[in-house]
Amino acid sequence: MREFLLSRIREAGEICRAEQVKLQDADVEYKHGREIVTRVDRQVEMFLREQINDRYPDHGIIGEEGGTTLGGASHCWIIDPIDGTTSYRFGQSYYSISVALRVDNELSAASVYAPALGQLFYAQRGDGAFLDGVRISVSGRRLNEAILSTGFACLRSGWQDNNLKYFNRLVPRILDIRRCGSAALDMAYVACGKYDGFWELNLNLYDIAAGALLVAEAGGRVCDFSGGGSYPEQGIVAANPGLTAEILPYLR
Ligand code: IPD
Ligand code: CA
Ligand code: CA
Repeated sequence: MREFLLSRIREAGEICRAEQVKLQDADVEYKHGREIVTRVDRQVEMFLREQINDRYPDHGIIGEEGGTTLGGASHCWIIDPIDGTTSYRFGQSYYSISVALRVDNELSAASVYAPALGQLFYAQRGDGAFLDGVRISVSGRRLNEAILSTGFACLRSGWQDNNLKYFNRLVPRILDIRRCGSAALDMAYVACGKYDGFWELNLNLYDIAAGALLVAEAGGRVCDFSGGGSYPEQGIVAANPGLTAEILPYLR
């Protein structure tokens, strides 16, 4: 399964790289109001679906663009074909392909691939997390020396109760903030210590499934804004355990 996942996500990355420079306005649509989707998002998800259906016809798939097929299957692939579509659309490099495999409702394997940056993250439950084949771990930094990352899907959705209040509470207390546009890659960066922590609200399962396993297998803690397991519905926090405990009070 590992080789299947890594080879197909690399191929999907080649599609992204080849098509990004060709994107025209006609290739871009808006869904749910102000959310961008391109023909490449759909093309990448279709490619991954075809590969999975070919090799594992009895597996389920939950994909951002294509919805859920065989949702009751014991094995289910969770796909965000391009996480960071806005970055992708405007020729930026900070976007990723996020694929996770859930077996009997537990995340079993995951990969986040940043084609433009040449960074391939992988994790297998109980077997650790890796960046380009090298084992990774979360940082040990605490709040006042931390680089945190977040996003603002809530603003895009017009939420009055949104991330700005949490942002304003946390930013004065940390070393620096990053908002680069791909939640999946943000969480992968937490898993390898490039970032120290991540939080966001209004994300979906496909945004965070792979990143959550990467962070957990890299020694981090992933939870909702109350410290429980209801993420991403109740918000999501991902960091080393000590830093997560320091962040949570600012999210209540
Ligand atoms: C988005 C990115 C972004 C996050 C948004 C997501 P998409 O995913 O992960 O960083 O802030 O909430 O929707 O839409 O590009 O797949
Ligand atoms: Ca996404
Ligand atoms: Ca997406």
